[in-house]
Amino acid sequence: MIGVLVSGAGTNLQALIDSGLPIAGVISSRPDAPALERARRAGIDTEVFALHDHADRDLRDAAMADWLTERKVELVVLAGFMWLLRPVFVERFAGRIVNTHPALLPAFPGAQAIEDALAYGARWTGATVHFVDEGLDSGEVILQEPVAIADDDTVESLRSKIQAVEHLLLPEACRLILAGKVQRSEGSRRVFIES
Ligand code: GAR
Repeated sequence: MIGVLVSGAGTNLQALIDSGLPIAGVISSRPDAPALERARRAGIDTEVFALHDHADRDLRDAAMADWLTERKVELVVLAGFMWLLRPVFVERFAGRIVNTHPALLPAFPGAQAIEDALAYGARWTGATVHFVDEGLDSGEVILQEPVAIADDDTVESLRSKIQAVEHLLLPEACRLILAGKVQRSEGSRRVFIES
């Protein structure tokens, strides 16, 4: 079972829903995230874990982990979740959390990856699905695809090109992990995919 964490529009959540993956629940950090409506339309359990409802981030993240554990979630998917998870959460799901990031990591980590790639003048960027550790977009890469940046690209046009790629890459990475086809290696960052 998958648990999905969101903060925004939820187009990646929609791609996961449309691909038929088993989603046990969706957590949003914001009560007004349009992603919540997508989950409800698909009949998936939702819960909002806004920071202001909890004493601090550790308690908020621990409560999220409890909610997912109650739903027997084995794989946590960050699909536009705009918070760094606290160690209390990452330790509970060690090696079982993935994120989709709108750049070719390790280039352009952080919350403004598309703006940063354009401002840098890069000719290529892309999408990365990676394991999540306690750092900022620093876990091992699972799947990546490049996206060319055109001279007339804007943040909006580039975002839609990258998201079209993410919508294929994220469900594919989840399918591979749930099928046991993604192997991490001891003592190295390399991840191997069984074909
Ligand atoms: C996605 O493009 C994802 O890569 C990005 O937020 C977007 C969410 O869109 N995540 C990050 O920038 C995390 N650093 P969505 O809500 O439509 O899926």
